[in-house]
Amino acid sequence: MKIAPFSIEQYFALYEFSTPHILCASDCESMSIGDVLQMTDTSIDDFTNLRLNYTESQGSVEMRTAVSTHYPNTHPDHVVALAAPEEGIYLAMRTLLDPDDHVVVLTPAYDSLLNIAEMISGNVSKWEIQPTSDGWAIDLDQLAKLVTDQTKLIIVNFPHNPTGFLPTPAEFDAIIAIAAQHGSWLFCDEMYRGLERNEADQLPSAAGKYGRSVTLSGLSKVHGLPGLRAGWLLIEDETVREELINWKHYTSICPPAPSEFLTTAVLSHHHKFANRNRAIIRKNLAIADAFFARWPDLFTWRPPQAGSIALVELHQPSATAYCHQLVADAGVLLLPSSCLGYGDGHVRMGFGRETFAHDLAVYEQHLQTQKSRFLQKA
Ligand SMILES: Cc1ncc(COP(=O)(O)O)c(C=O)c1O
Repeated sequence: MKIAPFSIEQYFALYEFSTPHILCASDCESMSIGDVLQMTDTSIDDFTNLRLNYTESQGSVEMRTAVSTHYPNTHPDHVVALAAPEEGIYLAMRTLLDPDDHVVVLTPAYDSLLNIAEMISGNVSKWEIQPTSDGWAIDLDQLAKLVTDQTKLIIVNFPHNPTGFLPTPAEFDAIIAIAAQHGSWLFCDEMYRGLERNEADQLPSAAGKYGRSVTLSGLSKVHGLPGLRAGWLLIEDETVREELINWKHYTSICPPAPSEFLTTAVLSHHHKFANRNRAIIRKNLAIADAFFARWPDLFTWRPPQAGSIALVELHQPSATAYCHQLVADAGVLLLPSSCLGYGDGHVRMGFGRETFAHDLAVYEQHLQTQKSRFLQKA
C-alpha cells in the first residue's frame, strides 16, 4: 500500500543537519539531559539507576497521572503513552478509520494528519484556513456544510501548524458542537498548546470536553525536548482506547523507559519549561516584527497568535525555488509552502530557537546584497 511523500520531513532530511542557519524549525530550543534533571530537581542517580526493561503498554500510572493532572475532567486511565507524538497520529487514524469513511481535515496540515487519513479512508474533505489582512480565520459555515452524518472524523490542530492560528473559545465550542451534532469523532492535535502569546488565551483541551475526542500532545514543542520523542493521547472512550492500544502492540509496544521517566519529571515542572520557551518566542517575534516592517515588498507578515511558527507570504514567483536557492547562496533554511500542500507563495518560519536573531541577521545581510530587487525600508 502506497502513501504520499511526507514532504516536510523529506525536505528537512535534505537540509536540517547540513544547513547552518535554520529559520523554519517548529520545535523550541532544546536542552541537555543534565539541564532537564536540574530543572526538575531529579537526582542523576535516580536516572542512571533506571532499569531498561519493557514498560507498561499504556504507560506507567505515574506518567499517566502526571499527564492527566494537566487536563481537567480527565482520569489517568484516559492517557496512552506513545513512543513519539507522531505515533499517536498513526494509531488514532488506524483505530478510527476504515476505507471510505468520510474525514474532514483542517488544512494546510502537518503531513501525517492529512496523508494517513487519506491513505486509509480515501475520502477526505479539506477545510482550508483563510488568510485575512493581518492573520488567519476559520469559516465555521463551511465546516457545517462539509460535515454530515457520514463524517466519521474531523481533524484539527490548534494552535495551528503552520499559521499559528488559534480559534476563540466560542469557535472551538462551535467545532465541537458540529462534531457532536453528527456523532463525529474529533482528533485534536494540541502539540503547540501551551505556547500562546498570553497564557490567558489558552484554549481548553478537547480532552475532558468532548467524549468522542482523541487528543494528542507531547514534549517536542512546548517543552523543547523533541529528541525525547515523548508524547501521549487522551481517549475517554474505553473501547476505542483498547483498540488503539492493540494497534500499538504492532508499532512500539510500550514507551521507552528513559523517555517515560523524564516525561513524568518534566510534567511536574511544566511551567518552567513552557515559560522559558514562551519567553524565547516573545523575544524572537519582536525581532521578526521589526524585520518584516523593513521588507514589506518581499513579505506579507501575519503574526502567529500562538505556537512557535508562522506562515509568511513571499512575493516571489516560486517559494520552492527561492528556498532551495537561499540554502545554496546563504546557508539559510526556510520551508516552502509546497511542502505543506499550500501553493507555492508562502514560507514557514520558526521562532522557538535561541539562535533566531543571529540567523535572521545572516538572512538580512544576504537580502541587502539583493536590495535593488526588494526595496528595504529605512
Ligand atoms: C502539528 C504536529 N503534530 C504532530 C507532530 C509530530 O511531533 P513529533 O515530531 O514530536 O513526533 C508535529 C511535528 O512537527 C506537528 O507539527
